[in-house]
Amino acid sequence: MAFDVDHVLAEATTEELAALVCGSGSWHTTGIPRLGVPPLRLADGPHGLRVTEQLLTQAVPATCFPTAAGLGSSWNPALLKRVGEALAHEAIALGVDVVLGPGLNIKRSPLCGRNFEYFSEDPLLSGTLSAALVYGLQSNGVGGCLKHFAVNNQETDRMRVDAVVAERTLREIYLAGFQRAVTAAAPWMVMCSYNRVNGTLASQNSWLLTDVLRGDWDYSGVVVSDWGAVYDRIAALIAGLDLEMPQAQGRAEAVAAAVEAGELSREVLEVAAERLLALTDKAASAVRPAGKIGHHDLARQAALESMVLLRNDGVLPLAPQAKVALIGAFAATPRYQGSGSSKVNPRELDRLLDTLSARCDVTYAPGFRLSGELDDDLIDEALLAAEDAEVIVACLGLPDAEEAEGFDRTHMRIPENQRALVASLSEAGKPVVVVLSNGAAVEVADWVEETSALLEAWLGGEAGALALAQVLTGEAEPSGRLTETLGLRLEDYPSALMFPGESGQVMYGEGVLVGYRGFDALEREVAFPFGFGLGYTTFRYDSLTLTDTGSVVTRDLRVAVSVTLTNTGERAGAEVVQVYVRNAPASVSRPVRELRGYTKVWLEPGETRTVIVGLGIDAFAFWSTPHERFVVESGVYAIEAGPHSRDLPLSGGLRLDVPRLPSALHDESTIAEWFADTEAMEALQARAVARTGERFALSEQMYTVVAGQPLRRFAMFPGGVLTAEDVDAVLAEYGRSV
Ligand code: BGC
Repeated sequence: MAFDVDHVLAEATTEELAALVCGSGSWHTTGIPRLGVPPLRLADGPHGLRVTEQLLTQAVPATCFPTAAGLGSSWNPALLKRVGEALAHEAIALGVDVVLGPGLNIKRSPLCGRNFEYFSEDPLLSGTLSAALVYGLQSNGVGGCLKHFAVNNQETDRMRVDAVVAERTLREIYLAGFQRAVTAAAPWMVMCSYNRVNGTLASQNSWLLTDVLRGDWDYSGVVVSDWGAVYDRIAALIAGLDLEMPQAQGRAEAVAAAVEAGELSREVLEVAAERLLALTDKAASAVRPAGKIGHHDLARQAALESMVLLRNDGVLPLAPQAKVALIGAFAATPRYQGSGSSKVNPRELDRLLDTLSARCDVTYAPGFRLSGELDDDLIDEALLAAEDAEVIVACLGLPDAEEAEGFDRTHMRIPENQRALVASLSEAGKPVVVVLSNGAAVEVADWVEETSALLEAWLGGEAGALALAQVLTGEAEPSGRLTETLGLRLEDYPSALMFPGESGQVMYGEGVLVGYRGFDALEREVAFPFGFGLGYTTFRYDSLTLTDTGSVVTRDLRVAVSVTLTNTGERAGAEVVQVYVRNAPASVSRPVRELRGYTKVWLEPGETRTVIVGLGIDAFAFWSTPHERFVVESGVYAIEAGPHSRDLPLSGGLRLDVPRLPSALHDESTIAEWFADTEAMEALQARAVARTGERFALSEQMYTVVAGQPLRRFAMFPGGVLTAEDVDAVLAEYGRSV
C-alpha cells in the first residue's frame, strides 16, 4: 500500500481535500504531497494515447489504432482486450495512470460528429467491447474510463442540451452498455457527459451518478467530469461527482469555503476524496509491466478486423500484380482518425499509395480536391490513369473537417465532387472498387450500384493503409461486420424527426427503437443491415439447438445456443455468428428482435464447427416502468441465429413460464389494469360484495369505452358500488405506491 487512506482522511485539512477533488492543470489530479498522496496523470484517449502538456497542444508520438467505429466493427472482444493491453503499455511508458476511454455512447443518428469514437447503435456490442478494452488496460495496472455518461449522442449544443428520454429507453438502450461494462470490468473511472439528462446536468444528476451508477450497479470507482462539464461544484459533489477536471479557477477554494460555511458537509467531501484516494492508492501500488510505445503490427491487425466488405461481385481480391488505377486523394493523404480530444500523433503512418504499390502495378491520380471543390481536370486525369488499368480502386470518404468533436453533420452524403468522380469512373468500363474512409456512416444507396466492390474501412489508424492493401490483394480477410444500420437515406433513421432538437432540448421520441430496432419495427428497407459484412469465403449455418439450465424465477437462467457452422468456400475466413431474440408478445411494445449474443470464429476451408453462444436472463428482459426494474414475461421467445440481423436462417423456440409479476397497481391504474390483475380485482370485488351485496360490473360495451380510465375516479361516481376505502385497502395490499 502506497499510503493509508484512513490516515490521510483523518489528517488532511478541508482545503487539501477540496483541492484533491478539483484537479490540477489540464491532466493531473492534485494529490496531497504532504501526506504522501501523489497526483495521477490522466490522458485521452480511446484509440491511442494523447499526451500533451496543454489541452490543445500536439501530443507526443504514440500508436494510433483504428477509432471505435472500426474497432467495434471487429465484433471481437479478444482484439479489444489486446488493444487495451497495448494502450496500457503505452500509458506506462508515458507515465499515464488512467486512459480516458473508451467512449460508448449509442449511435442514435448517423449525423453525430463523434460517431467515429463510438462503437455501435446496439448496447450489447458497445458494452461487451468496452468491457474488453477496459479489462486489457486494467489487467496491466492502468485505469480505464468509460465515457460519456450518459446520453451524449450528439455534439450540437452538447454542453447544455437537455436529452429528454423515457426511463425504459435509458435502461434498455442508453445506459445498458454502461451497465454491462461497469459490472463486467469495474472501470477505475466513469466520465460524466456535458449534457442534461431529463432536466438535470449529468454532472449534477444524483439519479444518474448515485442512484443508478452506485446504487443499482454497485460502482465503487471515481466519477470524473468531462472537461468543463461542471457548473455548480457543490451541487456536483452532492450528486456524486468525485473529481472535476480540468482545474477551474477558484473551485477548490469555493469547496473549502462551502464546508466552512456549513453549505456542504465535510462527509460529502470525504466520500469523494476517499474514492480518489482509493484510486490513487490502486494506481500507485499497481504492478505494471515495462512500458512500450509502438504497436504498429497490432494496429494493422485491428484495422484488418475493422474493415467491412459490403459488396463484391468477385473483383476482390485483386489478382497478384494487377494493373490498378489508384484514384482518390485519401490514397496519398490518409484519413485515419477523427479530430478533437482523441487526436493521436502517430509514430508511423502508412499510405495506400505505398502499400498497394508494393503489391500491384499502380498508377495514381488524386481524382478530387479534399476541400470539396469540384475539379473536372482532376476527374479527367483520373480517367486517363484508368485507361491502361484492369481495375480502379477509388479511395473516397469524409474529409477531416466534416466530422469531429463539437459539431454534427447536417447530411450523410459523401462530398459532391467525390460523387461526381464515382459517376465518371463507373463509365470507364473497368470494375470500380470503392474504399471508404469515414468515421460516421455515409449514404451509399444512390451510387453503390455503380461499383463492383465496396469496402468500408472506417478510420483505420496508422496502419490502416497497410491492412487495406492486404485485404485488397487477398493477403488477409476482411472480417468486420456493421455495428450500425446503413439506411437508404438519412430520413429513414428512427431518430430523424427529432435530431438534434431545438431550443436546448432533444426528445428521444423513438424510444427503444434505435437503429435496427426501429428499422425492423418500421419494416424499412436498408442499404446494408446491422451485422452485415462479407468475406472472401462463404459459410453455411446448420442445426440450432437450445439447452437451458436454471430458471427465470431463481434468476440463473442460462441458455446455450449451439449452431453448426461450415466454411463452404476455398479460403480460411471469419464469421460472426449473431444470435437475436425475437421477443414474445409482451405487455409493452418491444423491438421485433434484439441482438443478445455473438461470437467471432475463424474456420479453415471445409471446416465445420459447433459454435456456442450463451444467453442469460437479461436476453429476455425489458424494463418495466411500473415495476421500476427489468422483468421477464411468460411466452415463447424465438432465438434466431445467422450472419446478420436480416438473415437469420436458424431459429428455435424457448418457452418461459414466469409467475405473474407482483402487482404494480397504483392510484391512477386504469380499469383495464385492475381487471388484468385478477387477484387484486377479486379482493376489491370481495369488499364490494361484503358491503353492498353486489360486484362491480360493466357491460362489454361499457368496458370498451371506459377501460382506459383510472378506476378510482370512475368507480366512485354516484351510484357506484366501490368506495375510496375499498380502493385504498386493496392498494395497501397489492399496490406499488403504498
Ligand atoms: C471530451 C472528452 C475528453 C476530454 C479531455 C472533452 O472535450 O468530451 O472525451 O476526454 O475533453 O480531452
